[in-house]
Amino acid sequence: MNMKITDSVTWVGKVDWELRHFHGYELSTHRGSTYNSYLIRDKKNVLIDTAWTPFAHEYVDSLEKVIDLKDIDFIVANHSEVDHSGALAALMKRIPDTPIYCSKNGAKMLKAQMHKDWNFEIVKTGDKVNLGDKELIFIEAPMLHWPDSMFCYLTGDNILFSNDAFGQHYATEVLFNDLVDQCELIAEAMKYYANILTPFSKFVPKKIEEFVELNVPLDIICPSHGVIWRDNPMQIVELYAKWADNYQENQVTVIYDTMWNSTKKMAEAIVQGLKRTDSTLKIKLFHAAKSDKNDIITEIFKSKGILVGSSTVNRTILSHIAGLLEEVKGLGFKGKKAAAFGSYGWSGESVDILTQRLKDAGFDVVNDGLKAYWNPDGEMVARCEEFGESFLK
Ligand code: FEO
Repeated sequence: MNMKITDSVTWVGKVDWELRHFHGYELSTHRGSTYNSYLIRDKKNVLIDTAWTPFAHEYVDSLEKVIDLKDIDFIVANHSEVDHSGALAALMKRIPDTPIYCSKNGAKMLKAQMHKDWNFEIVKTGDKVNLGDKELIFIEAPMLHWPDSMFCYLTGDNILFSNDAFGQHYATEVLFNDLVDQCELIAEAMKYYANILTPFSKFVPKKIEEFVELNVPLDIICPSHGVIWRDNPMQIVELYAKWADNYQENQVTVIYDTMWNSTKKMAEAIVQGLKRTDSTLKIKLFHAAKSDKNDIITEIFKSKGILVGSSTVNRTILSHIAGLLEEVKGLGFKGKKAAAFGSYGWSGESVDILTQRLKDAGFDVVNDGLKAYWNPDGEMVARCEEFGESFLK
């Protein structure tokens, strides 16, 4: 499949409707994804990125229907992660001497992953290549989201090829942002930001500022996953600026895991207490073992506070909560409040462990937490409600 973006740019990527997990099994992708690759045709022909390894041969076969591979003057590898570079080996077998333009880190990482001594051309921010009628300008974007990441900008068509930034794991055959379901699109863009880009938020405003300082017109943003932003492309840039600024909504999320429903009973009572505080407060409740981890993380991203509960088992917390908090710690959310709760029957360590893990993950823990001995009775349920109510106060 290929699709015309402008008279000189053609999408030559792969739509992956089946993808349900990414980064191994770390990230859920309920709506699939796309691996966007672009062919620029001018006096020089340029290929930007490729596709993920399992689609390498399909990708090369499909590309060959669009252009004689020998007519590709150079390849730009904006990022070495294999969802973009995975088809390079199959492609380079066919055109082994073709230069690959990439950042210094890009060359290092591609060599370490592919073990090939390809013809790397190292570029840095501000470097330009004259393609004939148009120019390609390179903009390094380290830590958005890998040390090697890079953008490039095509003059004339005023296209920013932003690689992972501004992307979404969202399969679509129509490719343009104005043609897809807008609620799904923004939800997937936010999930992608929350789960992938949050640790690198401090780099986002700097990169936006740097691009603005280039003082070039922007008509289209072509990321490497999901839609092409041709209708008001600044909308996703503005959302990134907002999301990078310790984003939160008027939301509190309650997350728990439970063995015999006592911690669940606490969670439900806490929700009742939260409901007394603010009629406009959005409250969400998740059973961690029954819910998608990455969807919960997106809700944490949106929240100003979270309450996390676990029963005590074998002197520690339940494994789904432990896994979730480990991932949340790596993401490094800032400016969010938290508290812990949980039931116990023997030793009762879970609340203290949760409290410490929430602190370690960077949350502002507002109290020492709430423990319930075995099944909460009416008095304990009332205390849970009070606990929820006082959390916001
Ligand atoms: Fe889409 Fe960082 O790879």
